[in-house]
Amino acid sequence: MNKIGIYPGSFDPLTYGHVDVIRRATHLFDSVIVAIATNEAKKALFSKEERAELVRASTEEMDRVSVDIFDGLLVDYAAEQTAKAIIRGLRAISDYEFEFQMALMNRHLNHEIETIFMMPKDKYTFLSSGMVKEVASLGGDISSFVPEPVLHAMNQRFPATNFKSDS
Ligand code: PNS
Repeated sequence: MNKIGIYPGSFDPLTYGHVDVIRRATHLFDSVIVAIATNEAKKALFSKEERAELVRASTEEMDRVSVDIFDGLLVDYAAEQTAKAIIRGLRAISDYEFEFQMALMNRHLNHEIETIFMMPKDKYTFLSSGMVKEVASLGGDISSFVPEPVLHAMNQRFPATNFKSDS
């Protein structure tokens, strides 16, 4: 049986923390779909298509990882894809409340889909897309936080920052 995991999120933009979770998820699932959605609570820097392209470019060497965009309810999308589980990264206690609420709401909406939490490497626990955007917009160096395709796209968005990839 092909065990599919869905890793949903805004990915605005993808960080090394996300990449770490994707890699860990490939050890548990036969295939992992990175599913890009709109989070109504957040203002996006990149369009969903741009974010998808950046995830694709940053994960192209990973077998069994695909990238998709979805609208509507996550559980409906997960059921359509016949996914076994929703994967979410958990960095710190501060993530827990929102993640707990979301997991239980999703279980209420579809009790057949489990949510599993994966912890990124500890060196990424302070990292967030929001912080990466803020640092880049103020001219700070984000090269150790994002993959090369994302760094390139961020340099174009914020021309004052022209940092080189450290990978
Ligand atoms: O990376 P994010 O912003 O924390 O991801 C949140 C996301 C996109 C996974 C969440 O907002 C979501 O699932 N949106 C789809 C709509 C939905 O199903 N909402 C109900 C879940 S509580």
